[in-house]
Amino acid sequence: MSGVNDIRSKFLDFFAANGHEIVPSSPLVPRNDPTLMFTNAGMVQFKNVFTGVEKRPYQRATTSQKCVRAGGKHNDLDNVGYTARHLTFFEMLGNFSFGDYFKERAIELAWNLITKEFGLKKDKLLVTVYHTDDEAALLWKKIAGFTDDRIIRIATSDNFWAMGDTGPCGPCSEIFIDRGEHIWGGPPGSPEEDGDRFLEFWNLVFMQFEQVTKEERLPLPRPSIDTGLGLERMACVLQGVDSVFETDLFRNLIDAIASALGHAPQEQTVASFRVIADHLRSSAFLISDGVLPSNEGRGYVLRRIMRRAMRHAQLLGARDPLMHRLVWALVREMGQAYPELVRAEKLIEETLRLEEARFRKTLERGLTILDEKSAGLKKGDMFDGDTAFTLYDTYGFPLDLTQDALKSRGISVDQVSFTDAMDRQRTKARASWSGSGDTASENVWFPLREKLGATEFLGYDTETAEGVVTALVKDGKDADSLKTGESGAIVLNQTPFYAESGGQVGDTGLMTGEGVKFRVTETQKKAGDLFVHIGTVEQGTVKLGTALQLDVDHGRRSSIRAHHSATHLLHEALRQVLGDHIAQRGSLVAPDRLRFDFVHPKPITAEELARVEDIANEVVLENDEVTTRLMAVDDAREAGARALFGEKYGDEVRVVSMGKQSREHGQNALGWSVELCGGTHVRRTGDIGLISVTGESAVSSGVRRIEALTGRHARKHANDTMSIAKTAASELRTTVDDMPARIAALMEERKKLERDLTDARKKLAMGGGGAGNGAAVASGVREVGNVKLLARAVEGVETKDLKSLVDDGKKQIGSGVVAIVGVTEDGKAGVVVGVTADLTSRFSAVELVKIASAALGGKGGGGRPDMAQAGGPDGAKADAALAAIEQAMTKQESAGA
Ligand code: ALA
Repeated sequence: MSGVNDIRSKFLDFFAANGHEIVPSSPLVPRNDPTLMFTNAGMVQFKNVFTGVEKRPYQRATTSQKCVRAGGKHNDLDNVGYTARHLTFFEMLGNFSFGDYFKERAIELAWNLITKEFGLKKDKLLVTVYHTDDEAALLWKKIAGFTDDRIIRIATSDNFWAMGDTGPCGPCSEIFIDRGEHIWGGPPGSPEEDGDRFLEFWNLVFMQFEQVTKEERLPLPRPSIDTGLGLERMACVLQGVDSVFETDLFRNLIDAIASALGHAPQEQTVASFRVIADHLRSSAFLISDGVLPSNEGRGYVLRRIMRRAMRHAQLLGARDPLMHRLVWALVREMGQAYPELVRAEKLIEETLRLEEARFRKTLERGLTILDEKSAGLKKGDMFDGDTAFTLYDTYGFPLDLTQDALKSRGISVDQVSFTDAMDRQRTKARASWSGSGDTASENVWFPLREKLGATEFLGYDTETAEGVVTALVKDGKDADSLKTGESGAIVLNQTPFYAESGGQVGDTGLMTGEGVKFRVTETQKKAGDLFVHIGTVEQGTVKLGTALQLDVDHGRRSSIRAHHSATHLLHEALRQVLGDHIAQRGSLVAPDRLRFDFVHPKPITAEELARVEDIANEVVLENDEVTTRLMAVDDAREAGARALFGEKYGDEVRVVSMGKQSREHGQNALGWSVELCGGTHVRRTGDIGLISVTGESAVSSGVRRIEALTGRHARKHANDTMSIAKTAASELRTTVDDMPARIAALMEERKKLERDLTDARKKLAMGGGGAGNGAAVASGVREVGNVKLLARAVEGVETKDLKSLVDDGKKQIGSGVVAIVGVTEDGKAGVVVGVTADLTSRFSAVELVKIASAALGGKGGGGRPDMAQAGGPDGAKADAALAAIEQAMTKQESAGA
C-alpha cells in the first residue's frame, strides 16, 4: 500500500523521468494574482507562463501544490467534515506543458501513470470530456481503448475549467474511478452523480484560452496542458478506503487528536475529529505562508477556519486549547515535503494557542446563547439574524460557525436580517468618523475605506505582487483614470508597499501593466488601513479595475529593514547601558539613516555610546533569526515586549523579537530584543551588517536622540571618516595611529610659540626690539608739571595684554601716570591707564581712561584709581586719545598749582 508521501514522490518522479522540471509549491497567498484569495490549483503559479508574459527555463513542469479552497470562487469550507472527500486544504499534483505537448501526450502520460505505476484497473475507470471536444474523446478511445459509454460528454462548466473569473482556461477531461456498488452514487452526468461511488481524481485541462474580462476570451499563444490530481483522493483509491479521512496521513492526525483528547472518535463524534484534522492543516499552512488571523480578508478566512475547528474541539470536550498541541503531528506527517512547515512550527503553535485561548473566553457564553435562542426551533426553521450578528460581533462567532452549529439540526440562519444588523452597525461607525478632525481634502478617504475595506498588506512576505486598482484619486477627488504625466493616488485591493507608520517611511517603487507605468514616490495610510500609493503616471493610462504588477524598490526596502531592526537592537542596548527608564519617544527609520528618541535626563558619554554600539553589534554578529508573532497585548508585555508609551494597540499585536533570550525574562523571554512593532525587518540580525552610531543630541528637556547608520551606509561613513583621518595624517607627516600624539605635541608647541610671540610683541611695542630695556620704555616719558607721563600707542598687542604693559611701565617710571592705547588688527582700540600709588590722590586712572575712551569714540570705562581700562571703536584716534590725557593732566596740574 502506498502512503501519501510515497504517492506524492511517485507522481513527481514519474513526470521528472518524462522530462518535467520538479518545481516547488508556490505559497498559498498568490503573489501573481490579485483576483484570487488563495492558491486553489497547481496552475496558479504558472498563470503568466501560460499567457506568455513570463518565461521560465523549462517547458514542462510538475508540482505538488498546496491549495486552499475556503473562500472565493472555490469554497469547500461548509462541506468539510460531513462528506468523504471535501477538504479546505489539499495537495494538488500536476503536470504542465507550456506550449510543449498537448492533448495526446497529456492523456498518454496520465494513462500510463495510473495504470502502469499506480496499477489501477482499466475496467474501473471512466472519463468525461467537454461535449464538443471530439478530439479528446477520440484520443481516449485510442490510448485507453475505452468504449463510448466510458467517455461521457458533459456540457456544463464542470468540464470547462477556469481558474477564476479571469485567467487561463480551457475544456477539460476528468478521470473517474468506480469504487464499487457498496457506495451510493452514479456516474458523472447521472442524477446520482453527487454520490461518492464515482470519484473524480484527476482533471486534465487543455489550456487554450485566456479569459481577459467577463466578456472577452482570447486564444493562448500556444495550446498548453494543466492537470490536477487530488493527492488525498488518489490515496483513498490506492489505499482502498472510502474517505480521505481514512488515508494514512489523516488517520495519523486523527490518532494524535484522540490521544490529546483522551478518547477515540465514535460515530457521533467522528465529524468533529475530521473537521479538526482538516482545519489544522489549512490553518498551519496558511500561517506558515504569512497569513495571520484578523477581521478582514484572508486573515478572516483563517480565523473562521480556526474558530470552526475550535468549536469542534469544545464539542469533543477539550477543556484547554487543543489545536496547538497537534502541530507536531502535522509537522511529522508533512514537514519533509514542505520544509516551510518546520520553519514556522513555533509561530503556528503560538498563533493557534493565542486564538484558541482568546476565543474560549467567549465561546461558552456564545454557545449558551445559541442554544437558548434555537431551543424552540425545528428542522427547516430559520435562526434569527440579529442574534447571529450579536454572536458574531460580541462573541466572535463567524457567521459560518453559527451556520455549522445549526446545520446538523437542519436549521438555517436568516442572512438578510444578519446583513441588516451589520449595515446598521456600519452606519453607526460612519457617524463616529465625521468630526474626526480631518481636513476637507482628506475627506475622500473615509468613504473609500468604507466602500473598499482595508487594503491587504502583503509586504511582510513579499516585495512583488499583483493588485487590482480599486480607487484612483486626483486633486483630492475620486477619479476613473490617471493619464500620462498626471500625479495622483492609487488604492489597490492588496499591496506589498509598506505605508508610512511607526517611524518607518513608506515604500517607493513601480507599478506596471499593459502599456502602463506608475512610479510610486510615497505610500501612506489613510482612514486607518487604506494604503494609498502616491506618484505619477509615466506611461499609459491607469484605469479602475485593472490589475497591475507591483514592485517595491528592493534595495531601498532592504536598507529600511536593516535600519528598523537596528533601531530595536539599539533600543535594548541603550536600556542595558543607561537603565530601565529608557522609553522610546519616537523614531525615524529611513533607507539611509535611523534616529531614535528616548527619555534620559542627561547627555550620553562617549564611553556609554561606544558600549551601546558594541552591544548592538554583538547581536548583529550572532546572526540570529528575527521572528514575528501575533500575540495578545498583555501576553506580549508579560514576555517583556517594549511598546511605545501612550500608544493605543489593538487586542492583538505583532511582536518582533531578535537575538538570544535575555536572562532577565528567563524562559518566558522571546528573545534578546522584544518589541511590539508593525514594521518590516531583516530575516536574520546578520543582514543588518553593521551598526554605526553617528550622533547623540538633545531633542527637548529630558529627551535624547541618537542617530545611526547600518550596512553599506555605516561602512561608507566609516570609510569616509578613515579617509579624512588619512588625509589629516599625511598633512601631519605621520600615520593615523600616531596622529593623536602628533596633534598633542603640535598643540603644546603652538602654546609655547604663542607665549613667545606675545612676549616678543610686548617688547617690540614698548620700545622696539632688543633687550627690552627700561631706557627704551622710559624714552616715551614726558613731564606734565612735575608728574611723569608715559604715553604710547601700540599695535599688535591684545587688549588683555595692555595691563601687564602698564604695570611694567609703572615699575619703570617709579612714580607717574602710564597710558597705553592698543590698536587691534580690526582697527578698534583698547586703552589702559595706570597711576602709581603715590599719585592716586591727585589723578584718577578711571577719570583719565574715560577721557581717552571718549576720544576713541567710546563711552565709559572702569577700574580702580590706580588702574582702569576702556575701549573705543576708532583706533585711528590713538594719538588724540593720548593727547587728551596729557591735556587733562596739564589742566588739573595748573588748576592745582
Ligand atoms: N487546474 C485544474 C484543476 O484545478 C487542473 O482542476
